[in-house]
Amino acid sequence: MTTVSQHYFGSIEDDGFSIRIIENMKEEYGLFVWPSSIILAEYIWQQKSRFSGSNVVELGAGTSLPGLVAAKVGAHVTLTDDSNRSEVLDSMRKLCNINDLNCRVLGLTWGVWDPPVFSLYPNIILGADVFYDTAAFDDLFATVTYLLQRCPDSVFITTYHNRSGHHLIEFLMEKWCLKCTKLVDGFSLLPSHKASNLSGNIQLAEIVFDTSK
Ligand SMILES: C[S@@+](CC[C@H](N)C(=O)[O-])C[C@H]1O[C@@H](n2cnc3c(N)ncnc32)[C@H](O)[C@@H]1O
Repeated sequence: MTTVSQHYFGSIEDDGFSIRIIENMKEEYGLFVWPSSIILAEYIWQQKSRFSGSNVVELGAGTSLPGLVAAKVGAHVTLTDDSNRSEVLDSMRKLCNINDLNCRVLGLTWGVWDPPVFSLYPNIILGADVFYDTAAFDDLFATVTYLLQRCPDSVFITTYHNRSGHHLIEFLMEKWCLKCTKLVDGFSLLPSHKASNLSGNIQLAEIVFDTSK
């Protein structure tokens, strides 16, 4: 079943806007707006001046709410998802059209070095709910680390839904010479009307390449 959800940011007084997302509840995970993406999108709205003019790549974007908000506040955005999931990539193109936003859409499978990966030089990398399958964590960190090393002062901003209570990503950050520079409870960022519809243990982390290692 396909539905269209509307997501509001700010108000008319502060140049607020809304983003429309087509969701397909029957399809797999990439065609659904996960709570982590609502939190990451809100964070981008709150930090809009930081995003304006920056080069942003969203990994595992799915319904792409964070990347679309980044584009709306003036970032140059590349939305990416698994190269093998053409239905998700097609949906991302449709989402850009219905929101009248001009983002690049690219198949990018974590840990795979297809030529388009080498064209990316992001200042900001986004990932909402991309840490859910432990078997893919190393591949994801390989891609993130590669992209972080492309641009000085670049940062990976991710919202992490910890469903297991384990802390594997901290261990893997060490392994990939990454360090966390900010860690906050995702719900502390949300206005109450958004928080009341969501649940889960979701943290927002900013991660950089650790040049001291
Ligand atoms: C839980 S969904 C999150 C989607 C979206 N970011 C959100 O929060 O609503 C995970 C996303 O990661 C993508 N994904 C999973 N494995 C991937 C891989 N190996 N390479 C690239 N993308 C992958 C999926 O296609 C899906 O869109």
